[in-house]
Amino acid sequence: MTTALITGATAGIGAEFARQLAARGTDLVLVARTADRLEEVAAELRSRHGVGVETIAADLFEEPGVAAVERRVRDEADPVDLLVNNAGHGLVTDFAASPLDDEVRHLDLHVGVPLRLTHAAMQGMLARGEGRIVLISSVAAFTPRGSYGAAKAWGVSFARWANLRYRGLGVSVTAVAPGFTRTEFHERMGVATTGVPGPLWLDVRDLVRLALRDIDRGRSVSIPTLRYKVIAGLARVVPARMAAAGSLAPADRAARRR
Ligand SMILES: NC(=O)c1ccc[n+]([C@@H]2O[C@H](COP(=O)([O-])OP(=O)(O)OC[C@H]3O[C@@H](n4cnc5c(N)ncnc54)[C@H](OP(=O)(O)O)[C@@H]3O)[C@@H](O)[C@H]2O)c1
Repeated sequence: MTTALITGATAGIGAEFARQLAARGTDLVLVARTADRLEEVAAELRSRHGVGVETIAADLFEEPGVAAVERRVRDEADPVDLLVNNAGHGLVTDFAASPLDDEVRHLDLHVGVPLRLTHAAMQGMLARGEGRIVLISSVAAFTPRGSYGAAKAWGVSFARWANLRYRGLGVSVTAVAPGFTRTEFHERMGVATTGVPGPLWLDVRDLVRLALRDIDRGRSVSIPTLRYKVIAGLARVVPARMAAAGSLAPADRAARRR
């Protein structure tokens, strides 16, 4: 029996990782801010799959929340075998107009928190000679997409190196780079998605199934679906201006354009 800890497990990609891992018989530690939603997801997975599910209601914007999750990750009495660094959110405001505090919190949630949790997990996993660490990045890591793309590029760059360094010692590190996926992400961010062509949307179930296959294989980078592999590949070779096309606008600005 293995145990997976997933941050941002009450909605979207994190909740789907929880469902698919529970279906495999993996025990879970679920992290998010909203305690009642955590309990709802946990109860459903316990009853449907008979797995053990712990919950940690923690705000990863705040030090006590990060420290609580870090403590759980380090707990060698009940080790975490798979860490999924997933919690995240988007920023729609132009960088120069964005309040500095929002930018710093955003960078911390996408880089500082996964770095700390990965560091906490790595020592125990190396001592046991096995473990898997996942960083949920984005195809935005390969395109000019403001501070969001820059933060997501950290996960890809780090996983490329860390997987080389630690995989031979039993610990794989995989960055998963999804394209547009139907979750609560864009609504929370307040962006209009009406301009995104239908074929670009991924179903969260397919996304997680493909990501888990790459994670099981110990890949350093997973870009689910051929269409997004092509997009990420092209984005690396075309001029930045072309690669930057298709950025999402805030919902009110998009409504004015129509
Ligand atoms: N959807 C996409 O198109 C897409 C594409 C590429 C990459 N991604 C990445 O995929 C990851 C998951 O996104 P999603 O689409 O599944 O988003 P989502 O549906 O909005 O879910 C976000 C999850 O993160 C939790 N969360 C947010 N802020 C948190 C905080 N400060 N502390 C603890 N938990 C927090 C939320 O729960 P609470 O609100 O209860 O805390 C929720 O469970 C993110 O890293 C995102 O950047 C998404």
